Amino acid sequence: MQIKQITLARTPQGTPSEADFEFGDATLPAPAGGQALVRVLALSLDPYLRSAMAGRHLSAAIRPGEVVRGEGLVQVLASQHPRLAPGTTWVAACGWRSHALLDADAIEQARPVGPELQPATLALGVLGMPGLTAWAGFKRLADAKAGDTLVVSAASGPVGATVGQLARLAGCRVIGIAGGPEKCAWVTGQAGFDACIDYHAEDLRQALRRLAPQGVAVYFDNVGGDVLLAVCEQLAVGARIVLCGLMAQYNGAAPVPLNPGLIIRARATVRGLVVYDHWADFAEMTAEIGAHIRAGRLQFREDISHGLASTPSAFARLMNGRNQGKALVVL
Ligand SMILES: NC(=O)c1ccc[n+]([C@@H]2O[C@H](COP(=O)([O-])OP(=O)(O)OC[C@H]3O[C@@H](n4cnc5c(N)ncnc54)[C@H](OP(=O)(O)O)[C@@H]3O)[C@@H](O)[C@H]2O)c1
Repeated sequence: MQIKQITLARTPQGTPSEADFEFGDATLPAPAGGQALVRVLALSLDPYLRSAMAGRHLSAAIRPGEVVRGEGLVQVLASQHPRLAPGTTWVAACGWRSHALLDADAIEQARPVGPELQPATLALGVLGMPGLTAWAGFKRLADAKAGDTLVVSAASGPVGATVGQLARLAGCRVIGIAGGPEKCAWVTGQAGFDACIDYHAEDLRQALRRLAPQGVAVYFDNVGGDVLLAVCEQLAVGARIVLCGLMAQYNGAAPVPLNPGLIIRARATVRGLVVYDHWADFAEMTAEIGAHIRAGRLQFREDISHGLASTPSAFARLMNGRNQGKALVVL
């Protein structure tokens, strides 16, 4: 079968651009025993891919000449594996391709997507890996209580917006940090946060002092860099910090030094989050977040690009912080 695919042309320097990727054709054989041939319906664009392209991620590096890895929503066309029936829909590690031949390992790790899930792309966002990241970080690591002031950065993305809404539902006072008026309007208007700081327009330190005068009880950090420093300067005694992501560093910027005195002064607890440690909670996460979505208590936002060829530019927009919600490509 003739398919389209995207390879990494060169390791990106700084923010990725379209020139870092190459669009091409390939031929796939019919599935052999234990394999399945799938059509890719939608691709999930996730920040960790940038780290993998630099060889800095926990998962294997993505090297020049290789098809870019990544999860997608796929439909089974032909199968020689008992788990994947033709016609069914799954989330699987398909890579940036129009079609993929999944091997037994990829099939074992694939997750079924039933017709009740609408839109099905939720399985890549708030009911997928980013949703589990938010749920596990909030439920298992943040130790948040009703009345706590919780601050979350990258607040309009699938991780940040879900953390903030779970916190709001748990009775916390929730302050988002996001770049630009459109993101902040969605965060307070749709996602129901108590406040959102547009750190492009407002001095972050001043805003934190104004909005959290008693200090920040929980900080869920999706970005690192100076935003992490600024929040650490405003911690309440006994604060919990969940370190989840490093958006400020993925494109190559040097880490910002954090004064340990800020942590000591606040008697703070700092915990690192790796979503892979929490796969056992996946069913509990989808049951809980799914119920919130169905009841209209939890909002989500998708940033959809169309066509495989749009994937490199959509990925560059994500890594530039210009996405408005979960970054997806619908094929
Ligand atoms: N630890 C884990 O296991 C795990 C798992 C999944 C995701 N994560 C992390 O969680 C974070 C959020 O992921 P997501 O999928 O929900 O992404 P996202 O929020 O949709 O997109 C990333 C956002 O980061 C913000 N950002 C802040 N500083 C930036 C910078 N210097 N350059 C570019 N963007 C910047 C931008 O929003 P603003 O303009 O609003 O700042 C951008 O929209 C990421 O750091 C990701 O790597 C971690």
